[in-house]
Amino acid sequence: MKILTLLGSPKKDGNTAALLKAFTDGAASKGHEVEAVWLHEKDITPCNGCRFCKVDGVGTSKCVHDDDMTELYGTLKDADVIVHAFPVYWWSMPAQTKVMMDRIYAMDYSLFNGKAMYFLTTYNGADPNSGAALCENTLKEICDYLGMDFKGSLAVSARANPVKENKEALDRAYRMGTKV
Ligand SMILES: Cc1cc2nc3c(=O)[nH]c(=O)nc-3n(C[C@H](O)[C@H](O)[C@H](O)COP(=O)(O)O)c2cc1C
Repeated sequence: MKILTLLGSPKKDGNTAALLKAFTDGAASKGHEVEAVWLHEKDITPCNGCRFCKVDGVGTSKCVHDDDMTELYGTLKDADVIVHAFPVYWWSMPAQTKVMMDRIYAMDYSLFNGKAMYFLTTYNGADPNSGAALCENTLKEICDYLGMDFKGSLAVSARANPVKENKEALDRAYRMGTKV
């Protein structure tokens, strides 16, 4: 399977990245091909909502903005599995993830049909964390809309200790990766 991981944290070596690395190691151990995208380093302009991308209401993957999304449209299309990994920011997803999600508006949504999605998140609040639950619900709604299969999520608080030192969470992420 082709797995595309989308890291939405501005920290390449932070809590969410640690969780994602464990998941990726698990998936790679089963022979899956993993392409990792760190959204923070990408040049992605916010969607204008101009609908230049639509022909008869269907997205063409052609946007007025010629930036790193141009390549990412192809990468998204080719992936069998999309893994969203981002920290909770204000009970929601960080801008790095949101700006990319908005630009998916330009794609033909039928391209997502049958793809799988996983969600990994970290936060600083206590458990249970309503921000993590809201983000999970958002992604589940998006999966319903796009005909994707929401396969699972892992939400970990970094309040007590950094995720890097949370062996139980890392083991859970690794096991989740092995089950893709
Ligand atoms: C702008 C901003 C907003 C945040 N909002 C929340 C929040 O709503 N709820 C929460 O529990 N933690 C919140 N946090 C804490 C982060 O989610 C937490 O530190 C996370 O583990 C950071 O992950 P990272 O190391 O991958 O960047 C916020 C942090 C920042 C910088």
